[in-house]
Amino acid sequence: MKKLLVTALAASTALANAAFADDAELRAEAKGYFEAIPLQAPMLEGNVLSRDRIELGKKLFFDPRMSRSGLFSCQSCHNVGIGGVDGLETSIGHGWQKGPRNAPTMLNAVFNVAQFWDGRAPDLAEQAKGPLQASVEMNNTPENLLATLNSMQPYVDEFKTSFPGEEDPVSFDNFAKAIEAFEATLITPNSAFDKFLMGQDAAMTDQEKRGLALFMDEGCAACHQGINVGGQDYYPFGLVEKPGADVLPEGDHGRFAVTETADDEYVFRAGPLRNIALTAPYFHSGTVWELRDAVAIMVDSQLGSDLSDEQIDDITAFLGALTGEQPEIVHPILPARTKATPKPYT
Ligand code: HEM
Ligand code: HEM
Repeated sequence: MKKLLVTALAASTALANAAFADDAELRAEAKGYFEAIPLQAPMLEGNVLSRDRIELGKKLFFDPRMSRSGLFSCQSCHNVGIGGVDGLETSIGHGWQKGPRNAPTMLNAVFNVAQFWDGRAPDLAEQAKGPLQASVEMNNTPENLLATLNSMQPYVDEFKTSFPGEEDPVSFDNFAKAIEAFEATLITPNSAFDKFLMGQDAAMTDQEKRGLALFMDEGCAACHQGINVGGQDYYPFGLVEKPGADVLPEGDHGRFAVTETADDEYVFRAGPLRNIALTAPYFHSGTVWELRDAVAIMVDSQLGSDLSDEQIDDITAFLGALTGEQPEIVHPILPARTKATPKPYT
C-alpha cells in the first residue's frame, strides 16, 4: 500500500513537472525571452541621473500644485504605495472627470519601448508633459506651471542646481526631465522570477515554474517579452477573437489614433506584466478585476488556445512571481506657497 502511494506521488510529481525538464533548461529558455531587472536605475539618453535632479523630480511628482486645481499630482494616479496605479477602472482627474483609459504603472516604465497604452510618447520626459496639460488629468498650462514654480524660491534654486550652467533652468522641458530622472529610479528588482533568472532554483514554486513554461510554450512570450515581460511592441487586442465591447470598447481605436494606419485599428502595446498582481483592474479599459480572468481573456483573444483551468491557474501563479521589491519613497516636504503663487482653479 505504502509502495503504491509512493509510486502515485512520484507519478504526480513527474506530471506536475512535465512542462519543464529541469530548472537549468527552463532558465535557459527564459533567458531567450526575458531579462532580470537591474539593481540600479538605467542610464537615460539626453538626461543625467544626478541626485539633485532625482530629488527635484520626486518633489514635482508629489506636488499637487502642478495641477490647475491644486488637487492632482502624478502620485494621485500613480500611487507608489499601491504598485504605481490608482486602482480605478479609468482615472478620475480635473473636475472629477473620468478619463478614457486605465492608468498603467510608472514602476519600471523606463524599460518600456514607448509610453502609454498606444505608445504615443517616446520616453518618460515627453510623457510627463501629457498629463500636466490633459484636460481630464491635471488641466494645467506650461505658463501657469512655470508661474507656480517661479513663485517659490526653493524650486527656482533646485532647478538651478539640478540643471547647472543652463541660462533658463526653470523650463517645461526641465520639469519633464527632472520627473523622468525620478521615475527612472522607480524600478522593482528581486522578484521571485528575477531571482530564478539569476540562478536561484528555489526562488520560484513548481506551480510558478509550470506557469513560466506555459507562458513561453503557449505563445504569451511572443508578445510579452523583454525586461518588462511586455511593453516592447504593439499587437491587435483580439488577434484571434475580439473580446466583448465591455473589455474592448469600440470607441478607443488604440494605435490607429497615433499612426492613422488601418492596420493599427485596436492595436495596443502588449502590457508590461511586471508587478501585474498589484495593478488591477486590467486592460486599457480597466474593466477586468481578477488577474486570472485577464489571463483567460488573453488565452481566448490572443492565442485561441484551449487551456485547462489548471494551466490558467499556473500561468496566473507565474505572473504573481513578477512582483518585485517596491521602492520605498519618503514623501518629500514641498516648498511653501507665496503671494505670487497662482491660486488653484477648479
Ligand atoms: C500614463 C506618468 C499624472 C493617469 C502614464 C505613464 C507614465 C505616467 C510614465 C505611461 C506608463 C506606461 O505607458 O506604461 C505620469 C506623471 C504624471 C502623471 C509623471 C505627472 C506629471 C497623471 C494623472 C493621472 C494620470 C494626474 C490621472 C488623472 C494616467 C493614465 C495613463 C497614464 C490614464 C494612460 C493614458 C493612455 O495610455 O492613454 N502616466 N502621470 N497620470 N497616466 Fe500618468
Ligand atoms: C495585455 C497576459 C498573450 C498582447 C495583457 C494583460 C495581461 C496579459 C495580464 C493585461 C495587462 C494590464 O492590464 O496591465 C497575457 C498572457 C498571455 C498573453 C498570460 C498568454 C496566455 C498575449 C499575446 C499577445 C498579447 C500572444 C499578442 C498577440 C497583449 C496586448 C495587451 C495585453 C496588446 C494590451 C491589451 C489592452 O489594450 O488592454 N496580457 N497575454 N498578449 N496583451 Fe497579453
